[in-house]
Amino acid sequence: MPAERLSCAPLRAGHLRGVTAAALLLVAALAPTLPGASSTVEWCYQDSSCNDTVWATTPFGYCNGTRQSPVNIVTANVQPNASLTGFTFSGFSNHSIMSKISNNGHTVQMDLQAGSISVVGGGLPATYKALQFHLHWGNGSKAPGSEHTVDSKRYPMELHLVTIKTIYNNLSEALNDPEGLAAFGFFIEGENTTNLPASWAMLTSYLPNISYEGNTVNFSSSGLSMDDLLPGVNRTRYYRYLGSLTTPLCNEVVTWTVFQDPVNVSNNLIDLFSSSLYFTNVHNVTEKITDVYRNVQKLNNRVITTPGNPNKSASSRSVATPALLCFVLLVFLLLLQ
Ligand SMILES: *[C@@H]1O[C@H](CO)[C@@H](O)[C@H](O)[C@H]1NC(C)=O
Ligand SMILES: *[C@@H]1O[C@H](CO)[C@@H](O)[C@H](O)[C@H]1NC(C)=O
Ligand SMILES: *[C@@H]1O[C@H](CO)[C@@H](O)[C@H](O)[C@H]1NC(C)=O
Ligand SMILES: *[C@@H]1O[C@H](CO)[C@@H](O)[C@H](O)[C@H]1NC(C)=O
Ligand SMILES: *[C@@H]1O[C@H](CO)[C@@H](O)[C@H](O)[C@H]1NC(C)=O
Ligand SMILES: *[C@@H]1O[C@H](CO)[C@@H](O)[C@H](O)[C@H]1NC(C)=O
Ligand SMILES: *[C@@H]1O[C@H](CO)[C@@H](O)[C@H](O)[C@H]1NC(C)=O
Ligand SMILES: *[C@@H]1O[C@H](CO)[C@@H](O)[C@H](O)[C@H]1NC(C)=O
Ligand SMILES: *[C@@H]1O[C@H](CO)[C@@H](O)[C@H](O)[C@H]1NC(C)=O
Ligand SMILES: *[C@@H]1O[C@H](CO)[C@@H](O)[C@H](O)[C@H]1NC(C)=O
Ligand SMILES: *[C@@H]1O[C@H](CO)[C@@H](O)[C@H](O)[C@H]1NC(C)=O
Ligand SMILES: *[C@@H]1O[C@H](CO)[C@@H](O)[C@H](O)[C@H]1NC(C)=O
Ligand SMILES: [Zn+2]
Repeated sequence: MPAERLSCAPLRAGHLRGVTAAALLLVAALAPTLPGASSTVEWCYQDSSCNDTVWATTPFGYCNGTRQSPVNIVTANVQPNASLTGFTFSGFSNHSIMSKISNNGHTVQMDLQAGSISVVGGGLPATYKALQFHLHWGNGSKAPGSEHTVDSKRYPMELHLVTIKTIYNNLSEALNDPEGLAAFGFFIEGENTTNLPASWAMLTSYLPNISYEGNTVNFSSSGLSMDDLLPGVNRTRYYRYLGSLTTPLCNEVVTWTVFQDPVNVSNNLIDLFSSSLYFTNVHNVTEKITDVYRNVQKLNNRVITTPGNPNKSASSRSVATPALLCFVLLVFLLLLQ
């Protein structure tokens, strides 16, 4: 019956195209990759001589690699993976873990007390301990500056919690292991309120103390917990992929976890980051720290995954649904006759 060929042939052609694309990706993955030499060269976000458009040249290390971060997360292409179980977050409710906060000219970084918080589970290959968190932003709540994007949506800010395998003493050691680091990304969404939540009001109250590049102050020991900073994020809903540091040398040693739910923060607090912090630019001029994010990188042969049961959705997507569609079409056409 011609009707059957008409309705089901495109499905088969689609499958063949998928197979060809997969084969091509495999060939691409087998092509040799040469990591760049590592040396310390000044990089920046704001000037064409040192911004992310030139990071992919050898002085900036591995930025020209094939598993770079950040990426755009296309939710329709995210694959479920049953090995991505829940996490165990240790020390996240402890209010004495924040050590010092600094303006390093690229971002605001909070150093954490050594070994005070750790993360295990979530399909990670080991237990990881946190070193620091830092932030990425644009130019106020109206000019967003998250690094990862979701279906091309860029959030106003993104918080990165940086952790290393507990067996390592410091970041340099962890950089030699392709599974050495785990980074956790939390999106910050702006809301039309003032000074909320209180945890973010407290965090930003330190910004006037670190106005200029190189400023560092101790953070109050009776301060914040990680849980305080991350209200409203369901930490069982996340995206997982293998990537890199998002700043030079862009080492490809990072297992990324990006949480789906954003933290809602008042727009007036988001605005403080781009309005009250300064750095000294390549022309030795002091200017405001704005647009501190790297543009999204090619996914190449990587698949972004999420917790879930692959068998269930694979069968419903590639077998059950086309078969059912053909059957329904057949019945429909028979009824028409
Ligand atoms: C980075 O430099 C390129 C030119 O190399 C320029 O087109 C782009 O606007 C610059 N980006 C920023 C944020 O300055
Ligand atoms: C990046 O690497 C690719 C292949 O390894 C090369 O073709 C390309 O020119 C490199 N780009 C830069 C900016 O170095
Ligand atoms: C909280 O963290 C600090 C710093 O690491 C540690 O000394 C303290 O024992 C922790 N408190 C609890 C209840 O675990
Ligand atoms: C699923 O997650 C586990 C644990 O992270 C990983 O080892 C495995 O490669 C993943 N499978 C796929 C298909 O991504
Ligand atoms: C940031 O926004 C302010 C206005 O809110 C504007 O004056 C300034 O030029 C912007 N900076 C950049 C780098 O776009
Ligand atoms: C990292 O730790 C190792 C071993 O303790 C030490 O030799 C090295 O100097 C440390 N590196 C940095 C940058 O602190
Ligand atoms: C934010 O709130 C103010 C008053 O509270 C209102 O005038 C404004 O329209 C609101 N903006 C948005 C984007 O909702
Ligand atoms: C931050 O600055 C204020 C005002 O100058 C000062 O009173 C306060 O002690 C400073 N805090 C720290 C931790 O340095
Ligand atoms: C900051 O903390 C360090 C280590 O806890 C301490 O040695 C130093 O005196 C503190 N600085 C100030 C200004 O309180
Ligand atoms: C954050 O804001 C969104 C949009 O207004 C809302 O749907 C969500 O419930 C808020 N989250 C929390 C934890 O309040
Ligand atoms: C968190 O998300 C999971 C998966 O979507 C859901 O089953 C669970 O009920 C959520 N937890 C809360 C506290 O909302
Ligand atoms: C940068 O400016 C400062 C003060 O304006 C000056 O002392 C310093 O020598 C300058 N450095 C360079 C490299 O021009
Ligand atoms: Zn970051």
